[in-house]
Amino acid sequence: MTQPKKLFIKTYGCQMNVYDSERMAEALGGNGYEEVGSPDEADMILLNTCHIREKAAEKIYSELGRYKELKTAKPDLKIGVAGCVAQAEGEEIIRRQPLVDLVVGPQSYHRLPEMEAKAGKEKVIDTDFPEEDKFEKLRARPKAKRGPTAFLTVQEGCDKFCAFCVVPYTRGAEVSRPVSRVLAEARDLVERGVREITLLGQNVNAYHGEGPDGRDWSLARLIWELAEIDGLERIRFTTSHPNDMDDDLIDAHGRCSKLMPYLHLPVQSGSDRILKRMNRSHGRDSYLRLIERIRNARPDILISGDFIVGFPEETDEDFRDTMRLIEEVRYGQAFSFKYSTRPGTPAAERAQVEAAVADARLQELQALITRQQRAVQDAMVGREVGVLIERKGRLEGQMVGKSDHLHAVHLTADLTPGDLVRVKITESGPNSLGGTLVGAAAGVAASTAASTSVNTA
Ligand code: SAH
Ligand code: SF4
Ligand code: F3S
Repeated sequence: MTQPKKLFIKTYGCQMNVYDSERMAEALGGNGYEEVGSPDEADMILLNTCHIREKAAEKIYSELGRYKELKTAKPDLKIGVAGCVAQAEGEEIIRRQPLVDLVVGPQSYHRLPEMEAKAGKEKVIDTDFPEEDKFEKLRARPKAKRGPTAFLTVQEGCDKFCAFCVVPYTRGAEVSRPVSRVLAEARDLVERGVREITLLGQNVNAYHGEGPDGRDWSLARLIWELAEIDGLERIRFTTSHPNDMDDDLIDAHGRCSKLMPYLHLPVQSGSDRILKRMNRSHGRDSYLRLIERIRNARPDILISGDFIVGFPEETDEDFRDTMRLIEEVRYGQAFSFKYSTRPGTPAAERAQVEAAVADARLQELQALITRQQRAVQDAMVGREVGVLIERKGRLEGQMVGKSDHLHAVHLTADLTPGDLVRVKITESGPNSLGGTLVGAAAGVAASTAASTSVNTA
């Protein structure tokens, strides 16, 4: 048997890139590659890149520069760039960094095996938006065992064109995968040991995949169908757009026990004037009303968000509006960014906010978010939550998992990854919660916890 070749993939950006990297590794498995954890021993290095902010994109070139010596020592080493920088910059990447052999955009991954075969002999570039379902074309390695959690992309691309954002250009138009393929992939994941699936899409709640009945199914309908799969215990989805949060999805949050009480719902700004300039197509009040409806359906839901500060023309008053919105919502988690000018987007042409002003606003906003996150986390103390065990902790005998609300929880108990248990939260630290085992989750046979009492309260 020939020795497997070694593939090193480094992933940047969002969860969709994480999912894509897994698919690419599987596809290159068909070309004789096996994944390794370091670039030093690799026969091929693949960077799966992100173009969302300038820093993210520039990082790629400094990373590539670091591979010069490796390539000199091993001239056969193939270096590829995939992802959103590949899509946005195409052959420019090879002009800037000639050691790159291959450039592949996010919609062309199914062609990667052929491209890899040619790479090294010639430069290969593919940044097309073909009409085929790339995931269907990617060859999966048969039945490799998996950890307890997995991502599953159900929708890609974006038609919303927020004035700051590159995604509609790098990922293309909104496309939903057919229901049958999503279900088949979910069943396969569950057979391989997965107990929690996070459905992914740039606007995942705009999902409208073709159902077995020939009609378009909404995300809510898809979730109810997924909830029927035995052995799949938890369902999450991200990222949602406020305008696509329909009644059925809100209702599912209230009634579907497998759908976890966590919702990432970015708003970007709390100022109506800025939201308009961002082309967000929702206002401050409609967002706040939406949060209220979601909380009525599921009172303990943890709300997460994204914010941009220093968007062109943002005044102090606009920023105060954002801070007031945050005060009102009380976020359990949030990601905040200083506006980054992206070439080709409408906002790039407008009057920019001074860097020092944006920096100060970002600091102030992040301090508020940190306080809120901590308060939401602290309020979990004394409560009993479901925890899906993912791995061993740092201390002897300790295990770590994620709660229903996506908090990291550590506990000392004789458990294995994949066990879904009830845990009483006893402490709240800077980045995680601590607790004690109450028992197996209702209706779930967690082998090692079966002897302790089962609490279904
Ligand atoms: N589809 C998602 C977000 C995708 S990008 C949505 O509509 O919310 C993830 C986050 O990156 C965005 O929510 C935004 O907060 C941030 N972001 C996008 N473009 C940016 C830019 N040019 N500068 C700073 N942050 C940006
Ligand atoms: Fe970007 Fe807006 Fe689309 Fe989100 S909705 S991916 S922020 S354009
Ligand atoms: Fe980045 Fe592309 Fe995701 S730009 S955030 S990797 S969709």
